[in-house]
Amino acid sequence: MKGGVNCDRKVRLGIIGSGKGSNCAAIADACASGVIPAEVSIIISDVEGAGILDRARERELLGIFLPPGKFRTKLDDDAERLYIKILQDAQVDWVVLAGFMRILKGEFLRAFAQRVVNIHPALLPSFPGLEAWKQALDYGVKHTGVTVHFVDQGIDTGPIIAQETVPILPNDTAASLHVRIQEAERRIYPAALAALVRGEITVQGRQTIWRKE
Ligand code: GAR
Repeated sequence: MKGGVNCDRKVRLGIIGSGKGSNCAAIADACASGVIPAEVSIIISDVEGAGILDRARERELLGIFLPPGKFRTKLDDDAERLYIKILQDAQVDWVVLAGFMRILKGEFLRAFAQRVVNIHPALLPSFPGLEAWKQALDYGVKHTGVTVHFVDQGIDTGPIIAQETVPILPNDTAASLHVRIQEAERRIYPAALAALVRGEITVQGRQTIWRKE
């Protein structure tokens, strides 16, 4: 067993996102080059025509749009059940949120207990929620960053796996800051996923412990 999953086959990632898919692309490329010892078995978007589905197509990976249902900030019950089923049918070991703009609830998190991770564009616990880079800029902090964390029932509250700081420069706009934050995301997310997949990270309460096997 490695990372809590069967060693007879490659570890499988299911990526879910709503946006242009730069994190998804970095993760898929890191899998293809062997940096992450895993394969991407499915990419799901809750937004029809989102760039993340183009990132899937460009790499000849399975990418599908799954309608989220009637709510704006979460999946409705039917949609959540469908997301779970499709990910289970794809035999996904880890659910990787990459710019997914909805909250996942108990049923989903129970189906993939301690197997759902997310990237957030700020140094949590500062600036949870939407447009975190803009929140940081408006607040006037001198440093912000990115956080990879396990997903729990709260909004961006799960145990922190990895963080990288990004300085806020005097002439930064929301757009220029987000560009540098996304550069950091493309470094830190594949590295954290590689460690997770290798079974090098364990969780004790709120603490995550990195160890080399
Ligand atoms: C990323 O910056 C990610 O951190 C953020 O959305 C962007 C998606 O970009 N996620 C959140 O704000 C989640 N609360 P991408 O589609 O290019 O990966």
